Amino acid sequence: MNHFQYRGGVLCAEEVSLAAIAATVGTPFYCYSSATLERHYRVFADALPKESLVAFSVKANGNLAVLKTLAALGAGADVVSGGEMKKALAAGIPATRIVFSGVGKTKTEMAAALKAGIYQFNVESEPELLALNDVAGSLGAKASIAFRVNPDVDALTHAKISTGHAETKFGVPWSRVTDAYALAATLANIAVCGIDVHIGSQITELSPFAAAFKRVVALSKSLRAAGHDISRIDLGGGLGVPYRNDNIPPPDPAAYGALAAEVAKETGARLIFEPGRMIVANAGLLVTRVIYAKEGENRHFLIVDAGMNDLIRPAMYDAYHEIVAVAEPQVNAPWTRYDVVGPVCETSDIFGSERALPVLKADDLVAILAAGAYGAVMASAYNARPLAPEVLVKGPEWAVVRPRMDDDALYASDRIPPWLG
Ligand code: LLP
Repeated sequence: MNHFQYRGGVLCAEEVSLAAIAATVGTPFYCYSSATLERHYRVFADALPKESLVAFSVKANGNLAVLKTLAALGAGADVVSGGEMKKALAAGIPATRIVFSGVGKTKTEMAAALKAGIYQFNVESEPELLALNDVAGSLGAKASIAFRVNPDVDALTHAKISTGHAETKFGVPWSRVTDAYALAATLANIAVCGIDVHIGSQITELSPFAAAFKRVVALSKSLRAAGHDISRIDLGGGLGVPYRNDNIPPPDPAAYGALAAEVAKETGARLIFEPGRMIVANAGLLVTRVIYAKEGENRHFLIVDAGMNDLIRPAMYDAYHEIVAVAEPQVNAPWTRYDVVGPVCETSDIFGSERALPVLKADDLVAILAAGAYGAVMASAYNARPLAPEVLVKGPEWAVVRPRMDDDALYASDRIPPWLG
């Protein structure tokens, strides 16, 4: 469920017309709904065992206003870089609710996280563990860690976002997990506190979660028997969202919560979750304006002013996003099928092929839906196109929460070496 609906003939975010926002900030722009963010967070958090830590995965949407909205609801943060940690802290998320994931944490990032006093490091390899032990020692600190284990299960999702099988770079291989914990127990500046698992993203069936959680529960028992403190279990993120209207809906949070409750019951551990997409995807959309309606040999093209640099998911993962007209189609309006494409000079700069839309013309607005996760955060200035602004709506109010990148900023950081004068 989301809060983008037609009202008075125009698509609105909560009570605000997207056409009115477009008239003020220009296009393209991202727009997020506070009500949807809040609703998704609550539905998810309420489905989980009490005392769980919901650490929003900042990589899905790192806008400070979005983070602050979630922080106000009690969200923690799952971060994968020093930069994301800074953002989470700047948004008011307490360090004690931050977990640090990622395969390549640098010593500088580790030191910053230790100084901030984060809740836990999710360690992904033995060399990383040894580096963390060194850094913690040099700061006179003790690092709380969980190993991210690789349970070797198939997440049944797109290959590029599947992380829990043995051929990926993620996590400690299952065959070495026991040894890794034994090594950690010998290190003076490391405090083992749990287990972490994350098997992938946009997972639309429960069975991969069930398989991974089962392995983790069994592992917690054997690790405890070996004397390790397993008081926290981080079950990662990954719950999928409906991108297509005709899609079979992904498992609802209640069913996922029931699986998690089993883990809590069997282990008595505090559970941690790292949801990204399911909180923000449907809370955001990308509004773009038609530049030209162009007739191809046998296709109708809508060339819009957003490109793959603004939203790369279709080009990168063949991702499907619904596309709708911002002006509500009239009852008897003629419809046609368009290829909705951007202006970037790449064939993959296409948002949707053969999409049924009312007949549109230059200057009309369309919205690309479910773009709140992995949209603005993955944007680039490719083709020297300034990053699009982001807008947050709350009821009748709205605010630009990131302005459009200035044209001059596209090259302001470039430097001319002396030999070019
Ligand atoms: N925790 C870890 C360790 C992760 O690597 C991820 C996502 C998450 C949590 C959050 O997963 P979520 O709940 O959002 O599924 N750019 C891709 C998705 C990449 C996901 C990477 N890891 C996309 O646009 O589909």
